[in-house]
Amino acid sequence: APPVPSLRGVPLKYISLVTLAVQNSLLTIIMHYSRVSIPPSQSYSAPAAVLLNELLKGSISLAIAFVQIDPYTADTAGRFWNPSKILLRMRRLGREVFSSDCWKLSIPAILYVIQNNLQYVAATNLEAATFQVSYQMKILTTAAFSVLLLRKQLSASQWVALFFLAIGVGVVQIQTGAGDSARTASLLFQGASMNALKGFLAVVAACFTSGLAGVYFEMVLKNSQSDLWIRNVQLSAFSLLPALIPILITEHSQSGLFQSLFQNFGAWAWATVAIQVLGGLLTAMVIKYSDNILKGFATSLSIVISFLVSMALFDFQITFTFILGSVIVLIATWLYNQPSRTQSSSRVGYSIL
Ligand code: C5P
Repeated sequence: APPVPSLRGVPLKYISLVTLAVQNSLLTIIMHYSRVSIPPSQSYSAPAAVLLNELLKGSISLAIAFVQIDPYTADTAGRFWNPSKILLRMRRLGREVFSSDCWKLSIPAILYVIQNNLQYVAATNLEAATFQVSYQMKILTTAAFSVLLLRKQLSASQWVALFFLAIGVGVVQIQTGAGDSARTASLLFQGASMNALKGFLAVVAACFTSGLAGVYFEMVLKNSQSDLWIRNVQLSAFSLLPALIPILITEHSQSGLFQSLFQNFGAWAWATVAIQVLGGLLTAMVIKYSDNILKGFATSLSIVISFLVSMALFDFQITFTFILGSVIVLIATWLYNQPSRTQSSSRVGYSIL
């Protein structure tokens, strides 16, 4: 059997899953805080944050790909900075990034840009914990697209789990819908008012792009020999143009595009972007070393974390329906991830790309 990629003996699969769970809760809370702690007029530009995210993630992926690439030279011992070898690395890197099938990444790239923008709408208009629980519906869309595109077969208990997931999310929504939707985040952060319906619609749309883009990326990655980091560079490169479009549409200020773009871009905005960059890199690793469905499990773990922090930080008022809905979501996620006795997770559908 091929060696399991690991760091100090711990498989990368588990390291990336656990780190993703922590990253997810951090992002939910910090993104929400970065949006609601100040009046909307002083808020930073979400499309700018999305663009910055892609630029940083692409650069980091490029650096990793550069270091990891095999320049086809025999004398590997300690000669990293040898100029001729660097040239070889660069040539090889260029060939791999501009491979004939690089266009495949344009589809998930566009979807992720839409999703990353929608995420800001959702985080601005929903309680951090409500957003987190509703966002679990992406397990549902991921499963649907896995069945459609990867022709993955789901067991009866997994279908039951998906049914309960939908119910659980619905129950959590009851309390949001019935409550005063424009309630401010807390007494401390009375800047922005929230619109629960707008936030919920954004979450639903983001769940669709998440499922489709994730499954598509998994399909591209596992159906070819190309390196994960090369694929990430291609993904970020194709994201740049769609990430620029909302900026060009929304920013018409006289003070110059670039200046207005990074207006109000303070520490919290940078923190949000940094955590999102980390999340993108982790997501890619999780899709490579496990799959999209295990990823759903990791993010549902993060519900519990954000839930507790939200109560402490945002004066989040816990209601019976919220607890009931969250418990249903967690049980459904657990049930979904129970290994099935009748089938293995086959990868028959990959050849359709
Ligand atoms: O919630 P979900 O798992 O769908 O979020 C995926 C996130 O990870 C998106 O923000 C997307 O931009 C990012 N991503 C990435 N590189 C990948 C796959 C996803 O940066 N290869």
